Amino acid sequence: MKGIKNLNQILTLEGVAKKNGRHPKREDLSIIEDGAIVFNKDEILWIGKTDSIPLEYQDVSFLDGSNRILTPEIVDSHTHLVFGGDRSWEYGMRLDGADYQDIAKAGGGILSTMRMTNELSEDELYELAIERVQKIHSYGVGTIEVKTGYGLTIESELRCARVIKRLKEKFNPKIKIFSTFMPAHAVPKQYKSVKEYMDQVVYPATEKALAEGLLDAVDIFHEVGYFDNAITEEFLNWATEKGLPIKMHVDEFNDNGGASLAAKFKALSCDHLLCVGDKGLEDLKESETVATILPGTGFFLGKPQAPARKLIDSGARLAIASDYNPGSCHCDNLVLISSLAAPHMNLSLAELWSGITYNAAGALGLDNQGSLLIGQSPRFSVFQAKILDEITYNWGVNKADPDFITQVYS
Ligand code: NIG
Ligand code: FE
Repeated sequence: MKGIKNLNQILTLEGVAKKNGRHPKREDLSIIEDGAIVFNKDEILWIGKTDSIPLEYQDVSFLDGSNRILTPEIVDSHTHLVFGGDRSWEYGMRLDGADYQDIAKAGGGILSTMRMTNELSEDELYELAIERVQKIHSYGVGTIEVKTGYGLTIESELRCARVIKRLKEKFNPKIKIFSTFMPAHAVPKQYKSVKEYMDQVVYPATEKALAEGLLDAVDIFHEVGYFDNAITEEFLNWATEKGLPIKMHVDEFNDNGGASLAAKFKALSCDHLLCVGDKGLEDLKESETVATILPGTGFFLGKPQAPARKLIDSGARLAIASDYNPGSCHCDNLVLISSLAAPHMNLSLAELWSGITYNAAGALGLDNQGSLLIGQSPRFSVFQAKILDEITYNWGVNKADPDFITQVYS
């Protein structure tokens, strides 16, 4: 048993949890001033004010949380951090006016990362991924979803999934890693059709990953020129029959009806949504599927952002994630991305924090975290700040205290 006391504020998100992350308002942040918390390795046992710690917990060893704020753990529910190589040169091309197709023709894009990823050994990929996870953790993010999707052969997708499994083991319990299997990210050139790639790689690779216990969910890039409606629907039916949790990349460059598909198949989340239309908004509003926006990608690509305001106002559960990847968002800092996105996309502080904690945990199906309530998993983030506002007000300044988190889990 352990505790933390003298915290300036504890953001419990009790109100947000009661509403299942929909329409979060400031009062739903349910902030405790001068707070304390008691927990064991599995659950939160007590939470309240420092001056009212119950007698039965007086002898617990308490860390001193003075000058700090405790929040539900920040979750980055969408990253592609297992990759090799560098695509920084695409940035200049993009600023000069090149689009996705121009860049692919010039030898860039997802398939170029595939080639550079496949030149590295599993150990080399693992070492790169460790550094990336540690950096993400340094911003206060404690649960990180990691996708495969730059291997694009059976063996190489499995290799990337094994890297993710090793990350899981290495960082447990301090950092929780969630593994998403995504061979359906792009189709390498040697395949005559998308169907051929699905049959020769995606299905058999996913079967193997499942048998090896390598995946927590599957993902597919539903987009014109990638994986179309019929292919995607067939895959989602198959995944559903296998009982696999589903995540999706939807409506990024076109309104493809991806959000509606996600809702129909009860996906954990559908991500991007830059071009989601009225039907998609309608289908998401009462669905459990979390609408995940990736503002870093919109910023980087210079595209109009997802209609976050409409999504929230319609009642959808909205999460924010980084989409950290070598092509469309080489920014790994979800707190910075959210700080920039909130004023730009008209999000309140309550919507921002629900989006990177409670709803982001929901986007991974992690129902036992995302709020700090008795019985919930003891997963939290710690920041050096007097009030919550200070964390994202200081955009680009890292207020997280990962060393404190290390003490919590030691
Ligand atoms: O989520 N949209 C598809 N995949 C990535 C981009 C990957 C890349 O360009 O390497 C994304 O934005
Ligand atoms: Fe992505």
